[in-house]
Amino acid sequence: MKRIFSGVQPTGTVTLGNYIGAFRQFTELQHEYDCIFSIVDQHAITMPQEPDELSEAIRRLAATYIAAGIDPEKATLFIQSEVPAHAQAGWIMQCISYIGELERMTQYKDKSEGREAVSSGLLTYPPLMAADILLYDSDIVPVGDDQKQHVELTRDLAERFNKRFGETLTVPDIRLPQHGARIKSLQDPLKKMSKSDTNKKAVISLLDEPKQIEKKIKSAVTDSDGRVTYDVENKPGVSNLLNIEASLTGYSVEELVRKYEGSGYGAFKAGVAEAVISHLTPIQERYNELIGSQELDRILDEGAEKANTIASATLSRMEAAMGLGRKRRK
Ligand code: TYM
Repeated sequence: MKRIFSGVQPTGTVTLGNYIGAFRQFTELQHEYDCIFSIVDQHAITMPQEPDELSEAIRRLAATYIAAGIDPEKATLFIQSEVPAHAQAGWIMQCISYIGELERMTQYKDKSEGREAVSSGLLTYPPLMAADILLYDSDIVPVGDDQKQHVELTRDLAERFNKRFGETLTVPDIRLPQHGARIKSLQDPLKKMSKSDTNKKAVISLLDEPKQIEKKIKSAVTDSDGRVTYDVENKPGVSNLLNIEASLTGYSVEELVRKYEGSGYGAFKAGVAEAVISHLTPIQERYNELIGSQELDRILDEGAEKANTIASATLSRMEAAMGLGRKRRK
């Protein structure tokens, strides 16, 4: 069985962008692949985090994974900082990456822009992400479009490692969702929908109430053309809403364009809001049941144990290949 690995940062509340770009792929893939998913808390601290909030966000993200449909009988879910091999392999990956290639990462450029004090962790975050993936001999990494560059770097680092130290690591492939690899801000459809957006009208959170969702979609920026057609260049707002409805309902964009032929944006937006609300309601119900439960701790304990076993074996292989410690002498 091929292996899948992916991770989500516990910062703020999961957005509809995260859900469509990542979780929705995860729940589909868990039936066909050996899936390992992580709450990547060590990535979260590359930006300043308030400790109580981070700790809460980790728990909320764990509940979100399960509520979104991850079945702990099928997939492994664990917290990154509970598996020490990530930091250890992350260091190894840092040592084989070049500063120049890390400085070229667009996410680093975006996140560091205009900041006076940028942590070195923000720069060396992609090698940690590479370690996350490579420790599990992952074949496929399902992510949204904004992580593509990091997965490409992971492939380069794996190939570089294998070339220098002999075949040790599996070179993974990326998997992007069919629709919605980059869900856009509702207020500026040229930007991605992002947890860190200060304009809350721009972002739908997975836990938003139906009324909030309705309001946000109603006030989504579109254009003055008045026709529901798919044209990312010229009609980015309408195309974004079509992508959202298509990815949640399983209808193709073409089918939706036919459905809304002749309707104005009012009816179109009401239809999109209805699709989002009916999709998110059961997820929110399950989330509320889970958040205070002990079931969540049991799932995370088991996940950490399983992840530790796999990750420490790969780390040993990497260390032996490089000559670290006494492993080559055995
Ligand atoms: P993060 O936490 O920013 O986002 C989690 C996942 O959501 C996707 N995503 C989106 N997809 C579509 N439209 C959007 N607007 C949107 N916003 C976010 C992201 O592409 C991602 O798949 N570095 C990663 C976390 C990570 C990771 C890993 C992922 C750490 N180690 C190993 C895969 C494998 C991140 O910050 O994602």
